[in-house]
Amino acid sequence: MTTERDYVLGTHEEELARLGLQHRVWRSVALDCWQKAGITVGKRVLDVGAGPGYAAVDLAEIVGPRGEVIALERSKNFVRALKETCRARSLTNIKIHELDLMTDDLPKGDYDFSWCRWVVSFINDPALLMKKLARVMRKGSIAIFHEYGHYETWHFFPRLPNQERFRQHVIETWRESGGEPDGAAGLSELLSANGFVISSATPRIFCVRPNDYMWQWPATFIEIYLPRLIEMGRIDQEFADKVRADLAGAEKNPNSLMITPLVLEIIAEKRSE
Ligand SMILES: C[S@@+](CC[C@H](N)C(=O)[O-])C[C@H]1O[C@@H](n2cnc3c(N)ncnc32)[C@H](O)[C@@H]1O
Repeated sequence: MTTERDYVLGTHEEELARLGLQHRVWRSVALDCWQKAGITVGKRVLDVGAGPGYAAVDLAEIVGPRGEVIALERSKNFVRALKETCRARSLTNIKIHELDLMTDDLPKGDYDFSWCRWVVSFINDPALLMKKLARVMRKGSIAIFHEYGHYETWHFFPRLPNQERFRQHVIETWRESGGEPDGAAGLSELLSANGFVISSATPRIFCVRPNDYMWQWPATFIEIYLPRLIEMGRIDQEFADKVRADLAGAEKNPNSLMITPLVLEIIAEKRSE
């Protein structure tokens, strides 16, 4: 019986629920990307850093009983949640490996695709992950990424200086934990060094208004990460209250706009062994 392996965002129940909302907000973008990349019935997909498996479940339904999703995740809580979902939904085509992407080997398998979303920002050695991924992906297989490319794009109009300070704390705490918020920035070079050729690289960025569902994605992140920043001793309650009040004010202003943190979608084919 090992203990829970947490990371900078946490693996607690509220974060588990936030990841669910995040996936629902992004689902149409993910579906569009998977379709463009060619994921279909019968394919085998490696989900790298699957979290509680919200994407893994959608992928399992797409590939169907003849296909398979192999989910890799370090958090015991998230693995338990995914196992429960599989049971509740009678999904038998998801195989789960509880492992650390940095210290463990990736399981070998005849994968057609890999899917990696919001993971590269949180690991301390993306080059190592790319090397490991290249070892298990065969020639002709496709690697897909949705990773932040420019986190500082995230801001509001009218500007909210406290939110921009909050965003800086986010960036600094992710760096202090060994990650790099703009995880996509080095992917192009790393993919090339490991035998992958990029077939498409697309920025996914949105300008949303308070009534748009997508507004809830950064809004719930602020709500959940403020107590985390207090726990870390980075901010005090007074600052947290100001960020919350500014966000509540922006939500009430029908003229508010929010530019989301830029996500880079990369689709790359493995061309050499
Ligand atoms: C922001 S979540 C994204 C989860 C999922 N990919 C999604 O899109 O919903 C990042 C995930 O990476 C996992 N993670 C971080 N570092 C890891 C490591 N070294 N090995 C395995 N998983 C890791 C975390 O436990 C967490 O589930």
